[in-house]
Amino acid sequence: MARALYSGSFDPVTFGHIDIIKRAANIFEEVVVAVLNNKAKNPLFSVEERVNMLEETTKDLENVKITSFHGLLVDYAKEENINVIVRGLRAVTDFEYELQMAQTNHELLPEVDTMFLNTSILYSYVSSTIVREVASYHGDVSHFVPEYIAQKLYSKYDEIQKKS
Ligand code: PNS
Repeated sequence: MARALYSGSFDPVTFGHIDIIKRAANIFEEVVVAVLNNKAKNPLFSVEERVNMLEETTKDLENVKITSFHGLLVDYAKEENINVIVRGLRAVTDFEYELQMAQTNHELLPEVDTMFLNTSILYSYVSSTIVREVASYHGDVSHFVPEYIAQKLYSKYDEIQKKS
């Protein structure tokens, strides 16, 4: 069985991401979850915090490894010797961007293919952006993220508010 690379911003990880990680872990020998380390995206959480949150929420999955990367994803895939990239598709609106990314990655490194897993219908509307928006107003995010992540979100926004 092959190994797979599941990359993303995970700012923060949601139930939708966890669903994809679990399903990929049932298919592949190992799933390497790689957090994009890109300050230009101005993430809410540092890469260390995002890695920690993913580690905490996937600690029961033995064949899942959490890492981070910067630069091109295909370069990281080559470094890790992985030929399959996994991405979740929530709705048709994701498709155009995801297809473009998959085709670009395949062009850059032909031995790499992208496999799409459809996000469970339960989480097809959940995005990290929406979760951050709700949490920033102290709204209830318990349907979208595990309790551990919800607490990290509320603390982060409290911290930001105290600084402003
Ligand atoms: O969770 P996201 O933000 O949709 O994930 C996007 C991600 C991290 C997979 C993508 O931006 C990425 O791979 N960035 C690294 C730079 C890269 O390889 N770009 C070329 C692919 S189009």
